[in-house]
Amino acid sequence: MRLLDRTAVVTGAASGIGKAIARRFAAEGAIVVVADLGETPREGGETTVASITAAGGRAVFQRCDVTRADDLSAAIALAVELGGRLDIMVNNAAIGTDTPLLDTSEDDWDRVMAVNAKGVFLGCREAVLRMLGQAPRGEVRGRIVNISSQHGMIRAPNDFAYGVGKAAVVYMTRQIAGDYAAEGIVCNAVAPGKILTGKTGRAIAPEMLAYSQGRTPWPRLGRPDDVANAALFLASDEASYITGENLMVDGGWMAN
Ligand SMILES: NC(=O)c1ccc[n+]([C@@H]2O[C@H](COP(=O)([O-])OP(=O)(O)OC[C@H]3O[C@@H](n4cnc5c(N)ncnc54)[C@H](O)[C@@H]3O)[C@@H](O)[C@H]2O)c1
Repeated sequence: MRLLDRTAVVTGAASGIGKAIARRFAAEGAIVVVADLGETPREGGETTVASITAAGGRAVFQRCDVTRADDLSAAIALAVELGGRLDIMVNNAAIGTDTPLLDTSEDDWDRVMAVNAKGVFLGCREAVLRMLGQAPRGEVRGRIVNISSQHGMIRAPNDFAYGVGKAAVVYMTRQIAGDYAAEGIVCNAVAPGKILTGKTGRAIAPEMLAYSQGRTPWPRLGRPDDVANAALFLASDEASYITGENLMVDGGWMAN
């Protein structure tokens, strides 16, 4: 029970990687606010809250659009109401356009940046605001885990705005880590490689899966739990003296 009685907000936690993170945190004793646009998992199956409560864990759903500061602030307020403080903020929600530069309209750009960059900015800002007002547990007042991507460091094939947004997440993680270390706020990121979630369309086209496997030395593509394990580590006290890090969970993609 590495997160016993810790409170966590996980954005985009209705589906995929966010769902796996919420479930992993709850299994380790955390009270989890599942913050998403809706409760239905993209990949189908039971909702995050239903699967956590069936396993004896604690979770509640809060409708939240990460492009809206008020929604994030309400999700954080709910965590505080349930557990007295905000220990962990996971900024996971993201979208893509599946378009290269010349096919990316201004609307596409604005939509992706609103979620992938502004959503993380607002999630970090609202979390830091709350964390600064609470006493530290040991050395740490609160922990932020941002979900970036290897495509924030290298080109994202045919997803220009997505890659730029993810680069912004890597940058924000470092700056926030440096700016608030003195106040006991820890800020790290996890950069997944290719993870099989409920994504549809080009993300799971046979040629894209073959491309991803061709880039990945490990002999399988990623699972949501691979990312959840890393997020758990960074959200736990085991991650001591680690801040500003962008931890690759990519089966060696970036080493290749
Ligand atoms: N799956 C991969 O291969 C992969 C690779 C690298 C990085 N990532 C990152 O991991 C994270 C999760 O990816 P996934 O594959 O689980 O995605 P997903 O599409 O399966 O789930 C994303 C969730 O975010 C929610 N969401 C979207 N816009 C939102 C908004 N405005 N407010 C609140 N919630 C919103 C969706 O409703 C959905 O439940 C993302 O940050 C993604 O960029 C995924």
